[in-house]
Amino acid sequence: MSTGLRKDFLWGGATAANQCEGGFDAGGRGLANVDLAPHGPDRFPIILGHMNNLEFQDHHFYPGKEAIDMYTHFKEDIALFAEMGFKTYRFSIAWSRIFPKGDELEPNEAGLKFYEELIDECLKYNIEPLVTITHFDCPVHLITEYGGWKNRKLVEFYEKLVRVLFTRYKGKVKYWLTFNEINVLLLIPFMGAGLIFDEGEDRKQATWTAAHHQLVASATATRIGHEIDPENKIGCMLAGGDFYPATPKPEDVWESINDSREHLSLIDVQARGYYPSYLLKELEREGVKIPWVDGDAEVLKNHTVDFISFSYYMSKVSQNQEDRGETTAANLMSSVKNPHLESSDWGWQIDPLGFRITLNTLYDRYQKPLFVVENGLGAHDTPDENGYVEDDYRINYLRSHLAAMIDAVEIDGVDLLGYTAWGCIDLVSASTGEMSKRYGFIYVDRDDQGNGTLKRTKKKSFDWYKKVIASNGADLD
Ligand code: BG6
Repeated sequence: MSTGLRKDFLWGGATAANQCEGGFDAGGRGLANVDLAPHGPDRFPIILGHMNNLEFQDHHFYPGKEAIDMYTHFKEDIALFAEMGFKTYRFSIAWSRIFPKGDELEPNEAGLKFYEELIDECLKYNIEPLVTITHFDCPVHLITEYGGWKNRKLVEFYEKLVRVLFTRYKGKVKYWLTFNEINVLLLIPFMGAGLIFDEGEDRKQATWTAAHHQLVASATATRIGHEIDPENKIGCMLAGGDFYPATPKPEDVWESINDSREHLSLIDVQARGYYPSYLLKELEREGVKIPWVDGDAEVLKNHTVDFISFSYYMSKVSQNQEDRGETTAANLMSSVKNPHLESSDWGWQIDPLGFRITLNTLYDRYQKPLFVVENGLGAHDTPDENGYVEDDYRINYLRSHLAAMIDAVEIDGVDLLGYTAWGCIDLVSASTGEMSKRYGFIYVDRDDQGNGTLKRTKKKSFDWYKKVIASNGADLD
């Protein structure tokens, strides 16, 4: 039976360097903002940019320092991905492995070699590498010395980074994402853009200055990527999930439109090549100045992305402030609780039809191929004495979401390049710093305090996903 998915549909899994690699100081790697996000109550104030925390503190545990040590286990892990039949593996480059401080003239060979070996390992199994150039990371030196992305110099440093990557991995890597979930820099500016705010600083101005710089950097990367290898396909990446109005009250509908716009505004620029009028008006009203430099408008216009990638975990609900009801957690933000949906162990609401809706919204809006690069269920797993987890809850979540995704392709005609399940191997949670929030098909023996053998064990979902891939989505049972 065929599902309507293309024959070369890119099934696979996704990770991010700072959440799985560990080896924070191995091979000459420099310190990055993401290393400094501890487990515990200070994590959120830090990733929001509220707490100045630019070195390790003894009273904190930093889960990213070792994470699941993929730095040394990558061959074993990629062999497991290959066993599941992955056609693609999405991983990110730690900027500070390539340029430990960010502003060096020459890259760090050990860092380049590490990713080269990782890429070669993928290619050995015919796994197409899908590379996120930056997944929330920024060398700390670029923060202390330059103030992070609010400084225009970062565009230059990023340009240097991408030139090195496109050149070194030419012919090996074709799919690239410029910035992970670019819209979340508006929510977690330290993690998204290396921003720390001074007392009394105009946060909105600083954040949008950083956003403009990332947009220019992204378009510049697209230009350079195409110049170096016309085969390159370069995408943007959105933290996705549509916003529903809480009621048909026009104020709620209006609120949902505004929430959607807030989240789509940056990829509007990356996909269409210009700032949308609603955003220009809003920034003008708020007195925020976009730091235009000659040539910016042209680079944005002439170098839009080839495809739109996004993460989907849940839909969200918008309600006008006066009526606003109970809220729940929703991937680095909060949402009004939807009474029609179940929630995960972390309060994220489960909405497979919302996935189909989001796929349709994005395809209607941009008319460019889409790529789902994150989706999955973060849950508590209880392994048996052999480390085996019977994760039917995860299989159920994925089954219902894949069915909705296939409907979007088969029935609605959405053009979809592939699907990578988030955290295909257990890794550190971005929002909470916990290991116990697990997404993987592969269990990793490590707890929230960093104890454990790091042993990898296949979960029940491992064989299930293998069957899904082998049948190109036809067999979801
Ligand atoms: C996305 C990020 O926001 O969601 C990932 O790109 C993150 O880095 C994922 O891990 C799931 O979120 P969490 O907070 O459960 O790890």
